[in-house]
Amino acid sequence: MTKDVFILNSSDGSESIELPVESGAIGPDVIDISKLYEEKNVFTYDPGFVSTASCHSKITYIDGDEGILLYRGYPVEQLAKSSHFIEVAYLLLYGELPNKNLLNDFSSSITHHTMLNEGMLRFFNGFRYDAHPMAMLSAIVGSMSAYYHDTMDINSVHAREIFAHRIIAKLPTIAAAAYKHTVGQPFVYPRNDLGYCENLLHMFFSVPAENQEIDPVAVEALDLLFILHADHEQNCSTSTVRMAGSSGTNPYSAIAAGISALWGPAHGGANEAVLRMLEDIGSKKNIQKYIAKAKNKDDPFRLMGFGHRVYKNYDPRAKIIREMCHKVLNQKGRNNSPLLELAIELEEVALNDPYFIEKNLYPNVDFYSGIIYQALGIPTSMFTVMFAIGRTVGWVAHWREMIADPSGKISRPRQLYTGQPERDYMSLDNRA
Ligand code: SDX
Repeated sequence: MTKDVFILNSSDGSESIELPVESGAIGPDVIDISKLYEEKNVFTYDPGFVSTASCHSKITYIDGDEGILLYRGYPVEQLAKSSHFIEVAYLLLYGELPNKNLLNDFSSSITHHTMLNEGMLRFFNGFRYDAHPMAMLSAIVGSMSAYYHDTMDINSVHAREIFAHRIIAKLPTIAAAAYKHTVGQPFVYPRNDLGYCENLLHMFFSVPAENQEIDPVAVEALDLLFILHADHEQNCSTSTVRMAGSSGTNPYSAIAAGISALWGPAHGGANEAVLRMLEDIGSKKNIQKYIAKAKNKDDPFRLMGFGHRVYKNYDPRAKIIREMCHKVLNQKGRNNSPLLELAIELEEVALNDPYFIEKNLYPNVDFYSGIIYQALGIPTSMFTVMFAIGRTVGWVAHWREMIADPSGKISRPRQLYTGQPERDYMSLDNRA
C-alpha cells in the first residue's frame, strides 16, 4: 500500500525527486527507488543490503530489535511448542495451517518422495571418503536437474508442486547418503512407516546388521531444530535462491545455489564453526583470550555463533535451542557436558563485555545447535547439512513466491565503478 512520498533533494537544491513510500502489514515502510536511475541517473549504494528490501513477501517476519520471528504470522515460539516440522513446512509453503486431511495428504506425499533415483546414489562413489558433506549435498541436489526433467517447467503449477514435495522429502535421504559415504557404511533406504525425523535417524544410524532404535528425545530435538531453521526472511542463502531463480533456471539448480551460500561460516556454516571454536577454546580459562581476539580489529577471528545482521537482541531461536540442549544432554546423562558448560560460560562472559553490549552481539541460532547435533551422534561436518534440511522449506517457499509474482523480473543490481576510465590498448612492445 503506497501512502506517502519521500522527497530527495540534492545539496544545492537544484534537483529534487518524490519517491513513493509503501507500507507493509507490519514493520518498516519502504521507499520505492525503482524509478530513481531512470529519472535522475543515480543509483543508491548499500553494500550487503543492510537497508534494502529486495521484494514483497508474506512468508516470514522478523523484528530484530524485539527479537520477534513469525512464520506466516505465527510466533516461532508457539510453533516450536505446539506444532511439528511437516505441519510448519505446509504452513510456510501454503500460508495457512492445514486441517487433518490436508496434513495427512501432505505428509503422505512427502513420505512417498523420500527415495532417490538409484543413478544418483552411484554419484556418491565418485567422492573421496573425506569429501565435505556440504560439497556432496550441493552436487547431488544440483544433479537432480539431470534426473527430474518432469518437474523443470517453472511455469507449470503442478510441476512446481511436485518439485516442492520432492526436494523437501529427499534432503534427509541425500544427507544420510552423504553421511554414510563419509563413514564407509552402506546406504540405508528410507522407510514409509517412519516419520520425517525418525526416517532421518534410521537412515543415518541403522546398519544392515541391525536397525537403529529411534530415540524419541532425538526425534523431538531434530523436529524442533528443523522448525527453527525452516525460514528466516531474506537471509543470504534465501536471497541467493531468489536471485538464481529470477533467471528462470530450474528449481533444483536454484536450491543448489542456496546450499552453496549457506555453507559459508558467516551464515549456516557457523554451526560447524562454533563447535570447532569451542574445541579450540578447550577450557574456561582460555575464554578471555578468545574474547580479546574477537574484539581485536587486527584479528580476523570472530566469536562464531554470535552477532546477527537483523537481531540486535537475543535470537529467539537461540533461547529455545539452549533449553533443548539441556533436555537432550540430561536425557543422555551428560548434563555436565564440558562443551555445553563452556558455551554457557562463554555466553555469560560475552554478554557482560562492553564490546558485545554496545555492538548488540547476542548468541544466534548457530550458537547452541551444534551441541545438540553432537549429542545425537551427528558429526560436526554434517551440522550445516542439518541446517540445510530445515531451510530447504524456506528456500522452496520463497522460490515459489518469487516465481508466482507476476511483477517479477531478473535480479540484476548495478554498481559504483571505481576502476580505470576508458583507455587505448598498448601493444606488448610499448609496455614498460
Ligand atoms: C545465520 O541473515 C540471517 O537471517 C542468517 C541466519 C538465518 O537463519 O538465515 O540467522 C543464520 O547465518 C546466523 C549468523 C551465523 N554467523 C555467525 O555466527 C558468524 C559470526 N557472526 C558474524 O560474522 C556477524 O555477526 C554476522 C555475519 C552474523 C553479521 O554481520 P553483519 O550484520 O554484517 O555485522 P558486521 O559484520 O557489520 O558487524 C558489526 C560490528 C563489526 O564491528 P565494527 O566494524 O562495527 O567495529 O560487530 C562486529 C564487527 O566486527 N561483530 C563481531 C561479531 N559479529 C559482528 N565481532 C566479534 N564477533 C562476532 N561474532
